[in-house]
Amino acid sequence: MWDYTDKVLELFYNPKNQGVLEETGEPGTKIATGEVGSIACGDALRLHLKIQEDTDQILDARFQTFGCTSAIASSEALVELVKGKTLDEALNVTNKEIAGYLGGLPEAKMHCSVMGQEALEAAIFNYRGIPLQTHDDDDEGALVCTCFGISEKKIRRVILENNLSTAEEVTNYVKAGGGCGSCLANIDDIITSVHREAATVVGSAASKTTAVITPVKPLTPVQKIALIQKVLDEEIRPVLIADGGDVELYDVEGDRIKVVLQGACGSCSSSTATLKIAIEARLRDRVSKNLVVEAVEPML
Ligand code: FES
Repeated sequence: MWDYTDKVLELFYNPKNQGVLEETGEPGTKIATGEVGSIACGDALRLHLKIQEDTDQILDARFQTFGCTSAIASSEALVELVKGKTLDEALNVTNKEIAGYLGGLPEAKMHCSVMGQEALEAAIFNYRGIPLQTHDDDDEGALVCTCFGISEKKIRRVILENNLSTAEEVTNYVKAGGGCGSCLANIDDIITSVHREAATVVGSAASKTTAVITPVKPLTPVQKIALIQKVLDEEIRPVLIADGGDVELYDVEGDRIKVVLQGACGSCSSSTATLKIAIEARLRDRVSKNLVVEAVEPML
C-alpha cells in the first residue's frame, strides 16, 4: 500500500479537471494539446490547454490520464498550477512544484510528476509549432534506456532539476533502468557527469572568491536581495564572464530568484540547466537553502 498524502487521495477521488477541451470557435482562443507516456508503459497523459491568443494566458485546462492514483493526482495538481498563468510562466512549473502541491509523492511515484511537466511542455511546444522531436533530438538525445524509451537528455534534466544521486532515484523519476536493468551502468555514468559539470562551475566560482561571506539569519527581504546580488557579483559572475557568459539578477519573489543568463550561458538548454543548478547551489549555500533559481528571458 502506497503512503499517499491526504491531498493526493482528495484529488484522486474527486478530480475536478478530468476531460477534454475542444475548439469551439470562440474568438481569440485556441486549444493546445500535449501527450506523453504510453499505455504500454503503464502511464499516459493527454493535456488540453485553452489559450488566450493575444496574452498567451491559459484560461482553462483539462486532462485525460491513464495511470495510478498518483498519476491522476499529479494531473490535477498540474492543471491547478497552470490555470491563469501565461505560457512562459507555465513552462517554469517544475515536477517538484507538482509534487509539492500534493504534499509530496512516494519516491517510486515521482515519475508521475515528471510526466505532468512533460505533457505541459508538449502542449506548449505543439501550440508554438516547435517539433518535439527536434527539441529532443540533439547531441544529448541519444536513447539510454530502450525498455522505456528514455533519452540521455531527459535523464540529465531530471538529475539536475531534482538533484538526484543514484540510479534508483532516476528510475523512480523517469522509469529508466526499471526494466531489464542493462542501462543502469550508463545512468550511473550520467549522474557522475552531471554532478561533475555542476561542481566545476560551483568550485570554479569558489576558487576565485576573494571575500568570505557569512550568511546572516534571519535576513530581511532587503538584506536577502543584497546578499544574493553580492554573491552573484563576487563569486559567480567573474567566472561566467571569464567563460564568455554572464548572469543578471532580474527579480526576487520570496525564495524564487529570477536571473537572466547572457552570452554563452544562454545559448543552449543543457548549459542553461547546468548553470541554473550551479548558481542555485551557490546561492543556497551562501544565502538560504530554500532558494530556487529560474532562468528567465529578458524583457525587451
Ligand atoms: S534498457 Fe533501461 S531498463 Fe532495460
